Amino acid sequence: MNTLEELNIKGFIDEPIDPTIDLFAEIDRLKKEKNAVILAHYYQEPDIQDIADFIGDSLGLSQQAAETKADVIVFAGVHFMAETAKILSPTKRVLLPDIKAGCSLSDSCPPKLFKKFKDKYPDHLVITYVNCTAELKAMSDIVCTSSNAVQIVESLPKEQKIIFGPDKNLGAWVAKKTGRELVLWNGVCMVHEIFSQQRILKLKSRNPDAKFIAHPECEETILKMADYIGSTTGLLKYTISSSAKEFIVATESGIIHQMERASPDKLFIPAPPDNSCACNDCPHMKRNTLEKLYLCIKNGLPEVTVPAEIIKRARLPIERMLEISARLGL
Ligand code: 13P
Ligand code: SF4
Repeated sequence: MNTLEELNIKGFIDEPIDPTIDLFAEIDRLKKEKNAVILAHYYQEPDIQDIADFIGDSLGLSQQAAETKADVIVFAGVHFMAETAKILSPTKRVLLPDIKAGCSLSDSCPPKLFKKFKDKYPDHLVITYVNCTAELKAMSDIVCTSSNAVQIVESLPKEQKIIFGPDKNLGAWVAKKTGRELVLWNGVCMVHEIFSQQRILKLKSRNPDAKFIAHPECEETILKMADYIGSTTGLLKYTISSSAKEFIVATESGIIHQMERASPDKLFIPAPPDNSCACNDCPHMKRNTLEKLYLCIKNGLPEVTVPAEIIKRARLPIERMLEISARLGL
């Protein structure tokens, strides 16, 4: 008898796919047959974005996961996102095309070490960025995303002491925007810390009309140069509403697909990393492929599960975030 873990891994590697089938049509058919919804993050490959029912940032995807009427959520994103969907919709099956699609930021905050850290500050509330494990969320008071981190911090009384984790760059940016002192966990995202200040400055001087836009997971030296800082949805909206025709984009390159679709007359230049072989692709997000998405929806595997006891404790901090966001119209 195979364990769920073994089946999860076999779920995407064991089965050859008939090369003549139209994967888009098959995925569409299976989606209807199984009453499944496909939620995709902006960092997914263009084919996956094109077949998804909803494309969004972490906040938008959590909102969709909480509201969907589908029986099955196929989460084209990374593990912590699928876990969040499971916590919000525990009676539904949540599938992740590649069960190994993790996150360096989430990995940079092991729950056991975070517990020790948190215990040093007993009078602090804990706000965790959604890019962390379910276990970490279960230790938190409120969860946030890059779309609402500033507002979540501001929703607490000024004198409230706060621990913010795991992303130190997002935390430092929120501290600056809110004028609050936050105790930061020392975590980073491998994609957002690779941008080169020198190479961006050069690119800006060669494209003087281009707006430089950045995700708040970037380092402060990069954020200092930005004309606009925001979540992936924020960045996308900015490129749509701005009268500028050129943008240098400091975040994962997948978002450029939606930017180009929304504004075909504008030019989007990925911000250069500080090393010529690294690129702005998230290796975790890009583990998912259209083929794995097809096998996943067909076989109902790999499935993401969260222990009931963790769901019970992690749900409230996520719901608090969703309530504050709904109240503020985010
Ligand atoms: P948002 O889409 O919420 O901006 O998050 C970016 C990210 O790094 C997701 O892994
Ligand atoms: Fe994690 Fe960074 Fe990849 Fe987002 S882009 S999934 S934060 S490693």
